[in-house]
Amino acid sequence: MSSAAPAETPSGRARLVFPLDYASLSEARAGAERVCAGVGVLKVGLELFVREGPPAAKFAAELGCRVFLDLKLHDIPETVSRAVASACQLGVDYLTVHASGGPGMLEAAVRSAARENTGLKLLAVTVLTSSDQGDLLATGVADAPAAQVLRLAHLAHRAGVPGLVCSALELSVLRAQFGRDLVLVTPGIRPAGADAGDQKRVATPADAVRAGADLLVIGRPIRDSPDPLAAALAIVRAIESVP
Ligand code: C5P
Repeated sequence: MSSAAPAETPSGRARLVFPLDYASLSEARAGAERVCAGVGVLKVGLELFVREGPPAAKFAAELGCRVFLDLKLHDIPETVSRAVASACQLGVDYLTVHASGGPGMLEAAVRSAARENTGLKLLAVTVLTSSDQGDLLATGVADAPAAQVLRLAHLAHRAGVPGLVCSALELSVLRAQFGRDLVLVTPGIRPAGADAGDQKRVATPADAVRAGADLLVIGRPIRDSPDPLAAALAIVRAIESVP
C-alpha cells in the first residue's frame, strides 16, 4: 500500500470513483457493469437519484463497488440528520453535504452517521468550483474563493466530518492544513492527453495523487472511451505509479 493512501483505500482501483452520469437506470447499470472490475466506487449524483431513486444506489453496491451518493445536502439539522440516516440504511459508503450548512447542520449529520454506525463517511463540499468571486459576493461573502474554501474546510473538520470534496488546485493546501485527518476527493481529473470537456482546470491522475488526493472522480474519459474498462485500468495503473 502506498504511504499516501488512507487505510480504507489500499489499491488504485479502490481510489477510482466512476460517476454514473447516465440518464436512466438501465444505461447506468450497463455503464457500471462495463467498468466495475476497474473502479472501486460508483457515484450516484442528483440527476440519476432524482430520476431513479434508491435502486440506483442498490445496484451499484450489488456490483461489488462502494457507493458514493452525491446529493450535496443542505437543510435544517433535523432534516439532514434524517436524510443521513436514510442513506445509511441504503448501504451508502460516502454522502456529500454542503459545509456552508454551518456547524449545527454538520454536527447533526455527523451524529446521525455515528448513530447508524454503518460505516458511511460524510464528505463536505466547500465552494462549488462553478462559483467565482462574484457569486460569493452576491451571497454576502466578501472573501476570495480560496479563503472561503479554507474557512469551510476547517468548519467541516471541527464538526467531525471525515472528508472533503475539493478541486485539484486546492489539494496541496488542504493536505498541508489537515495532514491525514481528512479524506480528500477530487473531480476534474483527466488522463494525460484526454479531452478536458467543460472542466477548466484539470490535473492528471498521477498529479492529483502526488498533490494529496485519496479518491479521484473520473467520468467522461472512462464513460466515452471505446473501451471503458481499459481506460479505467490505465488510470488505476497511473494512480499506482505514484510511489
Ligand atoms: O466527466 P467528468 O470526469 O468531468 O466528471 C466529473 C464528475 O464529478 C461529474 O459527476 C461532476 O458532476 C462531478 N464534479 C465535478 N466538479 C466538481 C464537483 C463534482 O466535475 N467541482
